[in-house]
Amino acid sequence: MKIAFGSDHAGYELKKSLAALASSLGNDVRDFGTDSAISCDYPDFAAAVSKAVAGGKADIGVLVCGSGLGMSIAANKFDGIRAALACTPEHARLSRLHNDANVLCLGARFTDDNTAAEALKNFIATKFEGGRHEKRTAKISALEKESPK
Ligand code: RB5
Repeated sequence: MKIAFGSDHAGYELKKSLAALASSLGNDVRDFGTDSAISCDYPDFAAAVSKAVAGGKADIGVLVCGSGLGMSIAANKFDGIRAALACTPEHARLSRLHNDANVLCLGARFTDDNTAAEALKNFIATKFEGGRHEKRTAKISALEKESPK
């Protein structure tokens, strides 16, 4: 699986370890930055990862900031992105199973390393269930056209 990673300074260390984990599991990993713990702006990295996923250059994305909130808000601005903030491994599993999420967002200041690793493993391993959830995700996609101009 092609996985695009991104973080701000607050998520930098956790992102590095999650990217290494994903790589060790045999995934094709691309890191869109940031590349240090120097203060930076999370929307820049949310945009890079979201464009890679929405444009088909990556199958899924992983975004890490301090809370996970800024990354999820920014990523969901892009058509075709369904970014889910997961606080537990079960959130990550359900976000794939029911919501067909394509970007996993994590908050490094609220999520310990083991929880984040299990969340990522669930996100990679779980497939969208389809069925009754399909018409709901279609309704989410339709909302992209409803923004007032
Ligand atoms: C950075 O201090 C912090 O605001 C950022 O990492 C993130 O939590 C924003 O949502």
